[in-house]
Amino acid sequence: MKLTDTIFRDAHQSLLVTRMRTRDMLPIAEKMNEIDWFSLEVWGGATFDVAIRYLNEDPWDRIRSLKKAMPDIPMQMLLRGQNIVGYHNYPDDILIKFVERAAANGVDIFRIFDALNDIRNLEVAIKTAKKCDSHVQGCISYTISPVHTVEKFADFAVKLAELEVDSICIKDMAGMITPRAAYKLIKGIKKEVNLPVNLHTHSTSGMALMTYFSAAEAGVDILDTAISPLSGGTSQPPCESVIAGFEGTPYDTGIDIQDLTEIVEYFRKLKEKYRGVLDPISERVDTRVLIYQVPGGMFSNLVDQLKKQNALDRLEDVLREIPKVRKELGYPPLVTPTSQVVGVQGVVNVLTGKRYSVISEETKKYVKGMYGKTPAPVDPEIKKIIIGDEKPITCRPADMLEPEWERRKKELAEIKDKNGEPIETTDENVLIYSIFPVVGATFLKREAVEESFEPHKPAEKSKGPSKPKEKPKERPAEAPAVGIPTEFKVEVDGEEFEVKIEPKGGFVALGPGEKETKTTPEIPNPVKVPMGGLITQIKVNVGDKVKKGDILAVLEAMKMENNIESKIDGEVNVILVSEGKSVEKNDTIIGIV
Ligand code: CO
Repeated sequence: MKLTDTIFRDAHQSLLVTRMRTRDMLPIAEKMNEIDWFSLEVWGGATFDVAIRYLNEDPWDRIRSLKKAMPDIPMQMLLRGQNIVGYHNYPDDILIKFVERAAANGVDIFRIFDALNDIRNLEVAIKTAKKCDSHVQGCISYTISPVHTVEKFADFAVKLAELEVDSICIKDMAGMITPRAAYKLIKGIKKEVNLPVNLHTHSTSGMALMTYFSAAEAGVDILDTAISPLSGGTSQPPCESVIAGFEGTPYDTGIDIQDLTEIVEYFRKLKEKYRGVLDPISERVDTRVLIYQVPGGMFSNLVDQLKKQNALDRLEDVLREIPKVRKELGYPPLVTPTSQVVGVQGVVNVLTGKRYSVISEETKKYVKGMYGKTPAPVDPEIKKIIIGDEKPITCRPADMLEPEWERRKKELAEIKDKNGEPIETTDENVLIYSIFPVVGATFLKREAVEESFEPHKPAEKSKGPSKPKEKPKERPAEAPAVGIPTEFKVEVDGEEFEVKIEPKGGFVALGPGEKETKTTPEIPNPVKVPMGGLITQIKVNVGDKVKKGDILAVLEAMKMENNIESKIDGEVNVILVSEGKSVEKNDTIIGIV
């Protein structure tokens, strides 16, 4: 049995919000280099984003210095297929350059996945990595649904094998796989392809060690572990326990746990340094995933979001809604980025009281095929509600994207750092900027500041890796800073994601005859907000004639901008809010006569 240890990537991404610094990795690297690992997962996933966003660290420096410090160990990264290390599809030219530079800087093994298991989203990444003579591990994103059968997964493994991957990884990012399911799946894959199989899971539900034994009996070749101080909970199973458990069996790892003593001690101490970012909840066994099939991190996040919306009493409703939405959307695995599509839509369906009356931009894109082919067809009725008669794309999503490399390079050449000096347009810098135009530019301008080791305040933690906006909007200065739910986040696999949402046809004013009872009984047609949030724009003045469908105001709720439209023709007779003002659910903001 071979082991891949994740302490430098997934383990701290899962338990320490990805905050481990390179300078805290290097002192133990020499010892790690002496152990006979299959590989060490050290790069990719959220580490790239977090390094530039919160640590003021160059991610390229990290991979170079780790490779130098551990020359005998294959360095592995997690690549999100066409999403690279970001949260949306990037054009091929950026992806190709990224893979080439990653290989040149020290990545030996590319573990590549796509949330929807759409092979078209993996092709370019796999082919490029193969060209670089790297080991390519093709991933199966594991999930449970009526359409995700052993046969379907095995078929997908065959497709990966046709692209000449070197090994197959079963990526169970939510820690849902049971011992029995793992056994059957590994046997099923092994029957179809003659490649080493690696199992990646998380300890969240408490089954992982049992699953590993079962996987071993089914013939798994590689298992993912984490050195014990950063193992368990939402992280991987403990490395030393796996080693000891297999000792003397046909699955012996050949590693002597004595050789790990110093390493374990090192991380035990290091964990204390990062205590402030360790949420004790992520270390616990959480069996809810087995009941709701909602990954642990996503579950806690739903609770957080509902609390902020003063709607925690709707949790049961949301948990019932999420599987429904998932089914209607064709059973996507709940992994980045499809997890936020399903999670946000579920919450919004419940909070608005009318299913799909508000539709997130991400849901629209998903249904249009912009993420790839859905595992099962989207429910035709739901599809009609979401995109009307529009035809989804049938091509590979990245075929819709124009090349960006040259444009990004030129743009970067124009940007000066904080001392007025030009920024070097190395390939690595252009990649930082291309993948994260906003935070990447801040970092390259040397304006980024390393986060402190103080415990995360809720407001700070909620920043998380997020989809960069080209033109980030400043919140009006007068906006109150507390008590307003202004963001929606979904967390999966230790990463947090922001989601934008747009109303389907806008939020609507109440129709004629519907009575406003609260503060302004004289308003015949009050326009109410469906959620608490911040009014960022008022688009009309008193006396303006408006038509049905006209946008009256913009409400920022849960970090998403929502147009508030008029449901009737009429004249604005009163405006009760100003821009920058916070409102609560059902507040009347405008009256129309
Ligand atoms: Co993982």
